[in-house]
Formats: sequence, C-alpha cells, structure tokens
Amino acid sequence: MKKTLTLLAASLVMVSCSAEPRTLKDAFKDKFLIGVAVNQWQCSGEDSLGAATAKKHFNSIVAENVMKCEEIHPEENRYFWDDADRFVKFGEDNNMFIIGHCLVWHSQLAPWFCKDSLGNLVDAQTLRDRLRDHIHTIVGRYKGRIQGWDVVNEAIEDNGDYRNSDFYKILGEEFIPLAFQYAHEADPDAELYINDYSMNNAGKRDRYVKLVNDMKSKGIRIDAIGMQSHMGLDYPNLSDYENSLKAFASTGCKVMITELDMGALPSVNRGANVADKVAYQKELNPYPEKLPDDVSAQWNNRMDSLMNIYLRNADVISRVTAWGVSDGDSWRNDWPVRGRHEYPLFFDRNYNPKPFLHKYLNDK
Ligand code: G3I
Repeated sequence: MKKTLTLLAASLVMVSCSAEPRTLKDAFKDKFLIGVAVNQWQCSGEDSLGAATAKKHFNSIVAENVMKCEEIHPEENRYFWDDADRFVKFGEDNNMFIIGHCLVWHSQLAPWFCKDSLGNLVDAQTLRDRLRDHIHTIVGRYKGRIQGWDVVNEAIEDNGDYRNSDFYKILGEEFIPLAFQYAHEADPDAELYINDYSMNNAGKRDRYVKLVNDMKSKGIRIDAIGMQSHMGLDYPNLSDYENSLKAFASTGCKVMITELDMGALPSVNRGANVADKVAYQKELNPYPEKLPDDVSAQWNNRMDSLMNIYLRNADVISRVTAWGVSDGDSWRNDWPVRGRHEYPLFFDRNYNPKPFLHKYLNDK
C-alpha cells in the first residue's frame, strides 16, 4: 500500500511539473528563435511589465525604433547612442539573439542623409561615402554584440519594381549590395538580412528571389530574407504567403518572420507602408473596450493556422518575431488610423498570452 501511495505522489508531482506553464522560448526552442520588438521604455525598465514579459518569453529582440537613422544618426556629424546602447545591454543581460533594425530604409531617414545643404539629392559618390560611414560606424560599434542586422528594408514595391527611394534615384540597384558589403566589412561575423512587407505578392517575391540569388552569385553575404508579416483577418492569402516562404528558402537563405502582427479590426488598407494613413472614423474603431468573442475566435484560429505554417517550415525558418510585446504597445493602434484600439500581438493589454498560445504553454 505504502509503495502505491509513493508512486501516486510521484506521478502527481510529475503531472504538476509538466503542467507548469512553459515559456514561449521553451516551447519553440527546437524549432526557431522566438523574438520580439522592444521599445526604449522596455529597455530602460520604465515599462517593467513589458520588459518582464520580453525576458520571460523571448530569446531574441529587435530594436523597434531606436536604431533607425533619424534616431541614431540625426545629423551628419552627430550620432545618438544612449537608447541603442540600452537596447543592446538589455539583450546581452538576458542572453538574447540581438538584431539591429535597420541600416538602410527610406522611412524615418534623417533628412540630411540623401540631400545637400540646398535640399538637392547628393551625387552617387557622396551617398556611397555617407552609407559607408553610417553602416561602418553603427555596425562597428556593436561588432560581436549584435548578431544580425536588417541591412536593407522595404526596397521593392508590391509589383516587383524597385521602390523609387532617394537611395534608388541616386545609386540605382547598386545601393543594396553596397549596403551589405559595408555591413560585412564592419562585422564579418554578423548575419545580414533583407526585409520587407507584403511578401505574399508574386511580383515582390520574384524580385527578391532574383535579387538575392544575384547577390549570392557575386559572393555578397546575405543570410536571410525577412518576411515582415503585418497581417489582417482577411489578408494575406496564407497559401500565397507560404508559397513565398518556400520560394525564399529555395535561394538557400534562411527565412525569418521579422515583424509579425495581425490586426483584428476592419482592414482599411494593406501592407505596412507607414506613409499610408486614413482619417479617424468611429466605425473604424468598433471594439474600443475588447474584442467580441467571435472576432477573438477568428483571430486566434488564423494565428493558429499561421503558427502551423511556421512549424511545418521550421527547417527553413530560423526566427519568428512579434512586432511588439503586448497589444497596447503596437504601432497598429495608430496605423493606418490614429487612435484605434487594436489587438494584433501575442499578449493582451494585461500581458496575458492569447488563447492560440495556450497549447504551447501548457496553460489552462
Ligand atoms: O520619438 C517621437 C517622439 O519624440 C514624438 O513625441 C512622437 C510624436 O508623435 O513621435 C515619436 O516618434 C514616433 C516613433 O514611432 C517612435 O515612437 C513616430 O511618430 C512614429 O511614426 C514611429 O512609428 C514607428 C513606425 O515604424 C514608423 O516608422 C513604429 O513605432 C514602428 O513600429 C514601425 O515599425 C516599422 C518597421 O520599422 C519597418 N516595417 C514596418 C513597421 C511598421 O511601420
């Protein structure tokens, strides 16, 4: 009898341990890195709940804003390091895989970068010199401390054309391989990524496959193609999305899910072009308090389908990153309509994991 009771007690302990809620990084540790975009308030500790959630559940971080050109290099002869230093220290203190975002992007670009003192576009050599200085200085500062870089962000339009950014106007297609060359010069061991949204579009997909294959054929280091993955309940078509994922993997690069969020509100436009904005209308903000159960169920089911895509492609996916810690942190509360209440991330405004995660967390 005594032996039976001992065995029963031991099995109960085992059950309670195995039922202990796991963390996301534990749940996916044999699949891919699970990451999150963090902001300056989480890295400084001012947002202690956001910081605690990031530390508990994620083994990779990316800088949401503090390393963008307008923040880190606001004037040609002035860098601002404080927030970026705190971001890197947050990652190092918590043994995380740290990603710098982003070295070359047409948005949040310091106004001086591509212009001369009269406001005209600078010549090609001036821009090459500025790109080299920018990239060598920033990547060099964090050499051996930041493991991966979003080198070029959002360079291609949905139809496959090159975005007519100032970088493209001045240097043509050359600005992309140049940026990767400068980043590799500054830290030969860092992983280097190209990154964009709406990657389900065939034109964009085909252009990136060609671009990356060309770069690899010239011996230029590129480690991964980043699919930002800003989604809605009705876009993108998930089979198109998975087709793109597989097409990117065919280049031999890793695939990274770099900025995952899924809006639950009525779509007013798609993609993630920050310049696209829509005026506030009450009907565009239908759930200011909480999502109705049916919409929440629809959102969780679609996120579950998405996680299944990632898990069945885990052999080529090296990272899945959410673009923010909790719903209250998301850029989508203000884009494309400022002042909406969105519900796009893994954790709600009380830092509770969304239902689609419960099965991975052994949650109730
Ligand atoms: O820092 C200023 C602050 O001083 C000022 O008081 C305030 C007034 O509005 O603006 C603050 O800057 C804001 C910045 O985020 C930092 O919080 C900008 O207005 C705001 O436009 C900016 O939004 C960011 C957006 O990129 C625009 O660049 C979002 O937080 C960020 O999540 C979003 O992230 C981008 C990725 O980098 C690239 N892929 C698309 C993704 C979504 O646009």
